[in-house]
Amino acid sequence: MKQIKLQPLNQDVEVLTDSTLLSVLLKQEMNVLQACGGQGRCATCHVYVQTGEEALSPKSEQEILTLSFIASSQANSRLACQAKIWQDGLVIEVPQGMYIGSIGELKTLIGKRAQQNLIHPLTGEVLVEEGKLILRSALEKMAEIDSSFSTDLSQILLPTENSIVSER
Ligand code: FES
Repeated sequence: MKQIKLQPLNQDVEVLTDSTLLSVLLKQEMNVLQACGGQGRCATCHVYVQTGEEALSPKSEQEILTLSFIASSQANSRLACQAKIWQDGLVIEVPQGMYIGSIGELKTLIGKRAQQNLIHPLTGEVLVEEGKLILRSALEKMAEIDSSFSTDLSQILLPTENSIVSER
């Protein structure tokens, strides 16, 4: 077993050695969209390592590629579905909200109230703040951000129209 800390929740979690960060987040009942099904292609599980990068498995080629397309990516970025926990001492910063996988995803939420911040996966921008009504303007904002990225990107990052969003 290994010990890790999740920030800003200040939560200490004991995890099985070699488990993925994604499995840990899901066990903590965090709302991670995993639009690509954990294949390292959508960035809806993007987290930052605050301390202990060496406690994780190295980045895969797919992870490096996907992170290279994300505007909010930093040297300490990891995709939770790809990173396995090998040692103690890890401190992870999780997003304050949920990444939205696609415009289609967001469309299904129009008219509902956001239970948490809804975040664009490529830029980290908050599309809708927690507690606010989800309006069509959020779709426009997402479309505007998407169009600022190249078309090749959509072939690499595959958030799908039919990925699952929990009902609110
Ligand atoms: S779930 Fe991790 S990149 Fe898609």
